[in-house]
Amino acid sequence: MADGKHNSALGAAYAAKRPEEVAAIYDRWSETYDADMSIAGYRHPTICLALLTRHLPRGAEPLLDAGAGTGLIGEWLAITGYPKVEALDISQGMLDKAAAKGVYTAMHRLAMGDTLPFADGAYAGIISAGVFTSGHVGVEGLDELIRICRPGGIIVLTVKNTLWDAGFAERIAGLEARGAISRLEETRPYASMPGETDTVPSRGLVLRVT
Ligand SMILES: C[S@@+](CC[C@H](N)C(=O)[O-])C[C@H]1O[C@@H](n2cnc3c(N)ncnc32)[C@H](O)[C@@H]1O
Repeated sequence: MADGKHNSALGAAYAAKRPEEVAAIYDRWSETYDADMSIAGYRHPTICLALLTRHLPRGAEPLLDAGAGTGLIGEWLAITGYPKVEALDISQGMLDKAAAKGVYTAMHRLAMGDTLPFADGAYAGIISAGVFTSGHVGVEGLDELIRICRPGGIIVLTVKNTLWDAGFAERIAGLEARGAISRLEETRPYASMPGETDTVPSRGLVLRVT
């Protein structure tokens, strides 16, 4: 991303049709991802971290960073007092960068949207920043996160308005109505990358699994 106004890697990821395409795009982007997102003023990790720390006590474990990317969130979770955090991502290139930061206790190369190889209630908390967005993971990825989060546990995620308006909002309302989750917080829509032009807003959500 040369000028901070148009991120071509992210544009390609938004337009991806298959998980393998997304993985390949992020594999190639992994070298410059952190620097590019810093220039773009990328906000999702900070907002998700703020929401998580409001609802999950220091030391809660284990946590899962779902769509961890290069591990921006893992670094800050370690500093703020969550010692056992696992990373999951579809891109080996991104996971390699995350592993190099030395803050995750396990690395999982897996695709959200598929069945995940974790026990019911395995995690005390799950954080997923910038993943429920165009071309990445749709509402079909949510049920597995709920299954692997323990009752009373917290799921913090961001959802781009494009998905929100295309069935995500209804799905959340349906899960609430049947008592599977409660919605503890929903932020107002915000631009995830103020340094980019033409961004569709996203919102942050905090769900408690019941
Ligand atoms: C915009 S990045 C966000 C990374 C990190 N959470 C952050 O905030 O910096 C989106 C991440 O989602 C991952 N991803 C996309 N589709 C995925 C899927 N189906 N399963 C798991 N990870 C996926 C990508 O490889 C990428 O690392």
